[in-house]
Amino acid sequence: MKIPIPFSYKFDVRIASFLLILGATIIYACNFGPPENSRATQARKGYEHFVEHCAVCHGEDAKGVVMDTMAVQPPDLTLINKRRRQNEFPVMTIAKIIDGRTRVKSHGDRDMPIWGDVFSKQQAMTEDEIRGKLGEIIAYLHNIQN
Ligand code: HEC
Repeated sequence: MKIPIPFSYKFDVRIASFLLILGATIIYACNFGPPENSRATQARKGYEHFVEHCAVCHGEDAKGVVMDTMAVQPPDLTLINKRRRQNEFPVMTIAKIIDGRTRVKSHGDRDMPIWGDVFSKQQAMTEDEIRGKLGEIIAYLHNIQN
């Protein structure tokens, strides 16, 4: 038995599919730029933090020869992987080095500020905010490895 399909129903289906495609196109167009938490966006924000806090010693290119008056030369941060002879960026190690609050005293003096303290005390950031900021800085450092 043939079920007759009323004209208006077919019409609705066509309108509906048109609207569906239109909607999908708009959503696609809105997402065209890098999403808010994409790697590229994170790295760009990380670079801004780097220029603000770190470039004074490490240089804007992170290669670190600005402060020749310092007792300990800031290392070239584009060679983090190469110095460690590894291909994987050591995310946790580098996060701990930058944060600095868990550093064991017996490892000697540190010439770099303890950023975990700077961010939490001077800038009154919460632990979540500090984690976010470190994540962005690390995305940037990850991107510039040679
Ligand atoms: C006052 C100068 C100074 C500033 C500012 C500074 N650093 Fe450093 N950084 C150093 C020195 C010196 C070292 C070498 C280790 C040490 O003596 O603490 C170092 C080491 C590091 C290392 C370890 C590299 C490795 O391969 O082990 C990282 C990562 C790093 N800095 C990131 C940063 C970031 C990110 C910032 C900004 C939030 C920053 N530094 C700001 C001086 C500085």
